[in-house]
Amino acid sequence: MISDPAVIVLNYLFTLHAHFHTKMQVIKHINDLQTILDVKRKEGLSIGFVPTMGALHEGHLSLVRNAGQQTDFVVVSIFVNPTQFNDKGDLERYPRDLRKDTQLLTPTSCQLIFAPEVDEIYPEPDTRQFNFGPLEQVMEGKFRPGHFNGVAQVVSRLFDIVCPDKAFFGQKDFQQLAIIREMVRKLKLPVDVISCPIIRETDGLAMSSRNMLLTPEQRHNAVHISATLFEAVNKTAELSVEELCRWVVARINENEYLNTEYFEIVNEESLQPVRNWKDAGNKVGCIAVHCGKIRLIDNVVFRNT
Ligand code: PAF
Repeated sequence: MISDPAVIVLNYLFTLHAHFHTKMQVIKHINDLQTILDVKRKEGLSIGFVPTMGALHEGHLSLVRNAGQQTDFVVVSIFVNPTQFNDKGDLERYPRDLRKDTQLLTPTSCQLIFAPEVDEIYPEPDTRQFNFGPLEQVMEGKFRPGHFNGVAQVVSRLFDIVCPDKAFFGQKDFQQLAIIREMVRKLKLPVDVISCPIIRETDGLAMSSRNMLLTPEQRHNAVHISATLFEAVNKTAELSVEELCRWVVARINENEYLNTEYFEIVNEESLQPVRNWKDAGNKVGCIAVHCGKIRLIDNVVFRNT
């Protein structure tokens, strides 16, 4: 009954399933990963790397798409890095679902998932102390002490393991991007850091793994953050930098679900607060807001006119 259409469809589905299944490898150990990557490099393929902490969403998938367009073999790491959490509750709450993440990555240009356990990355405690100077003394660095040291520890470790040609990071974590660029410069690492635009939900909320922890009411109200930032961009003619900062904080805090931790308008390169719209360079408005127990960040660029 080879010509039975039901059998043909079943065969097709089976082949499709097998194809996707064989395509995606989930590797737990550094040695196994490096053996595969050595072969790929010998074949002349360039390696693209997307480090993540899992709980993947469209923002991560857009990084993977960028990596697929710019490199030949794409590795995604999924590792919830304990050293970058200054709040134990935040680490415990962080969503984890490797199965779902693997399913999401299967139809993308990701060819291999690296999902190590904590001991694999840190066989011994990482005691390295990085110094990023003024870059880490503002915003996230000020409100989450030790956070960027932990990010630098894990990203440098992952770069050492994967040795990517290019690594892809989202602009939502604007300060993290600056810190990683600085780390690459300081450690003279041979990797191109590629920044990719923020991906937003249709209502404007910046995509984040933490969004899935919001209750429906919190989620509904969280859109007020991006809406306020977009409104702020059109107010530079009528308000000074200081007035605009106060306006953003007041407007967001009017919403009973939201509590602003900081809003700073900073120079896009130095990350130091801007005093005047006439100051040189593009300016970025960066914000952190508590929505119940969930801390959300976002940013918007104020282009020089
Ligand atoms: O942006 C993140 O998800 C994390 O900070 C990173 C870069 C994967 C390091 O753990």
